[in-house]
Amino acid sequence: MNGEAHTPVAVAAMPRGGPDASWLDRLFETDALEYTDRSDVSDELKQRVITGLDAIGDRVGTHRSYAQVALGVVADVAHPRILELGSGHGRLAREILGLHPTATVTASDLDPTSVANMSAGPLGSHPRARTRVVDATAIDSPDNTYDLVVFALAFHHLPPELAYRAISEATRVARRFLIIDLKRSSPLGMVVLPFVMAPTSLALMPLSSILPTMHDGLISSLRAYSRSAFSALGKAADPSMNVEFLAPPRMGFGPPSLTAVFSRPTADSKDHDEKGSENS
Ligand SMILES: C[S@@+](CC[C@H](N)C(=O)[O-])C[C@H]1O[C@@H](n2cnc3c(N)ncnc32)[C@H](O)[C@@H]1O
Repeated sequence: MNGEAHTPVAVAAMPRGGPDASWLDRLFETDALEYTDRSDVSDELKQRVITGLDAIGDRVGTHRSYAQVALGVVADVAHPRILELGSGHGRLAREILGLHPTATVTASDLDPTSVANMSAGPLGSHPRARTRVVDATAIDSPDNTYDLVVFALAFHHLPPELAYRAISEATRVARRFLIIDLKRSSPLGMVVLPFVMAPTSLALMPLSSILPTMHDGLISSLRAYSRSAFSALGKAADPSMNVEFLAPPRMGFGPPSLTAVFSRPTADSKDHDEKGSENS
């Protein structure tokens, strides 16, 4: 794995807003952990957050629209093999399987309780699905096992010194790594967020999920990475890493997102680049 021996110093110290973040943006970041990251809170509380996220995604259509984005990225592959990291409830994996007749999906999470819940549900008996505990920063699979790795609404959970490793690992086990995460708001956006989030949460989530999901949602927004941070993390994983930012998924209503596809140059593209520079 690239960079396993040490973390590039510039990346470890990088603000979530990226190397060029303003002082004001830096004020709006936190090292606080979400409930779903903590070992000192009950599984029951963590699962209330996961249930809340499932309900929001269902009502605003993000599970479906993220699945469409993922399948668009592998539109050139007849029978795509897909690994989902940080699946939580597993709804994105289920949507992918429903939309594509031959795709195979491994739905995974770091949290064994979430993986056990996914195994006990429809994914556990689906002929083209597997469920596994996987740490995004140390993926236990050989190189090129998958065509695509997808990580939805979870990349911000990783601090920079681990986030670049996830990019390195995902682009080792697959040709492409799709991240869909919360878009980092402006400082003003972060100030107004709780006032937008409260009524939305009340309208969309089961009562028991509202407070814990708002807690995690507010921390998430302070930990979201900017576009320039994505680019810097990609370069820390591999200086020749490609990153392509896609248009946000089409949705009438839902959290603003940042969508990026990381890939390493292939032998073909290197060959093409070299010929191009020889000819220029
Ligand atoms: C905010 S939830 C997102 C769940 C789901 N992907 C969604 O879109 O609603 C973040 C998920 O990332 C998982 N997670 C956090 N750190 C992880 C890591 N290092 N590797 C894999 N999953 C991780 C958490 O356990 C949690 O299920």
